[in-house]
Amino acid sequence: MPMRDSELKTKQTDQGGARRLVMVSNRLPLSLEHVEGEGWRTNPAAGGLVAALDPVMRRRGGVWVGWPGVADESTETLRDVLDSQHNGDVDYRLEPVSLTSHEISGFYEGFSNEVIWPLFHNRFTSCNFDPHYWQSYQDVNHRFALRVAEVAQAGDFIWVHDYHLVNVADQLRELGITNRSSFFQHIPFPTADIFCNLPWWREIVYALLSYDFIGLQTVTDRINFLDVLTTLFDEVKTTAGDNGVDIEIGDQGLARHQQQLRIGTLPISIDYDHISEVAGSKETGEYMAEFRASWRDQTTVVLGVDRLDYTKGLPEKFEAFRELLRRHPELRGRIVLQQHVIPSRQRVPQYAEQKQEIERLVGEINGEFTEPGWVPIHYMFGRMSPPELMAHYQVADIALITPLKDGMNLVAKEFCAAQIEQRSVLILSEFAGTAAEFGENALLINPHDVVTTAESIYEAYSMPEEERRRRMQAMRQIVKNHTAFDWVDQFLEAAGADS
Ligand code: F6P
Repeated sequence: MPMRDSELKTKQTDQGGARRLVMVSNRLPLSLEHVEGEGWRTNPAAGGLVAALDPVMRRRGGVWVGWPGVADESTETLRDVLDSQHNGDVDYRLEPVSLTSHEISGFYEGFSNEVIWPLFHNRFTSCNFDPHYWQSYQDVNHRFALRVAEVAQAGDFIWVHDYHLVNVADQLRELGITNRSSFFQHIPFPTADIFCNLPWWREIVYALLSYDFIGLQTVTDRINFLDVLTTLFDEVKTTAGDNGVDIEIGDQGLARHQQQLRIGTLPISIDYDHISEVAGSKETGEYMAEFRASWRDQTTVVLGVDRLDYTKGLPEKFEAFRELLRRHPELRGRIVLQQHVIPSRQRVPQYAEQKQEIERLVGEINGEFTEPGWVPIHYMFGRMSPPELMAHYQVADIALITPLKDGMNLVAKEFCAAQIEQRSVLILSEFAGTAAEFGENALLINPHDVVTTAESIYEAYSMPEEERRRRMQAMRQIVKNHTAFDWVDQFLEAAGADS
């Protein structure tokens, strides 16, 4: 039997009176798929947001409102499927928002992923500022707000996630919902110079000001956000406190928007214990044995795991590997780059182009260097099970993570959490949020600089075991000391959720 709101509320009260959480994100942790002749199938949704929040919701309980990844189905159908396939098994409920194909095209593929995503990752020249996208974004945000208004009870804490849903709090206020609401942005926040290219940048800022609390991944993101506020308002007073920066805006023209809010820097994390457990499982061990047996003796494995995205710096990574093989020919036959690319947003034109570009480059580099018995780049496009992924993390000698810009990059954290033997090296872009936490324990690189990246791979290849261990131990400790659960606790405290 699915657990109903009242039961969940009792559960929370039993757990010490914490407010019930209403999570709101574009995607639910489950993606539904209707298979001809078989019926409904559920797949785990990909991505950092789900990886971080699902374990927290399983432990804490609550309601999660979002889109289950399928088009043109009624809310009733989606709710029935979720009730039968998910809501009976766990202590939190999934509440679906249904989207039409037209809305998915305008709101998700259009405004979210052809406008905000490239803009916030510093690629404003790639944006498609189609005004229909903006209309669709507003309409779908309104739809999400209606669903939240339906499920939220007095006293619930509403926590909205990410760039798809900036307008939800504003819409909730319009609907008369007065619960405390917070927003966490999983992606970077750009400088004012870039942000203000958006034709609707003022509307986005006003919408953000409807939240009581805004969490951002890094100090840089926070500085950029403040910079945008000072661009728009004559008077922005900031007061730094333990839980963030309190902001007061001295502009009387704000009407229904607030003049006070708090922003905090709260880097997201992972469920360290769960990752360690899966990494140490029998199934993972079997995969590891299989993978190790597939490499020639003494092969150094450089691993990349990235969602298909032009922000991940995949062409730059391949170019750096090519540079390594040119500069250090003695490594030919002894080192491989194993690159996994997880399918994502393939209906957005730039993603389809990116896929073609990386596949062309892999072919070109392999054509240049392949010898009998050795292929330099092993490229795999598809999804993996968690034990398979953990096995790859552990078999790898080096992880090469090269985003041109990334809110956090949880692959870097997972890689460290899975390093039970503590023997591998992490090479990390300085433009990933994770770099601010790992600092020089990782080999930090500028992904545009293919020569230095190539030399960093060489440095990792030649690094003495003791140094590898020391660096990896330090990074593992950083992740262990700040898990997804700590992140949520800190967020809720900073947002005043339980006060
Ligand atoms: O924050 C980035 C994000 O929106 C996360 O939800 C996740 O890591 C990834 O992008 C998934 O993207 P999508 O939901 O578009 O498949």
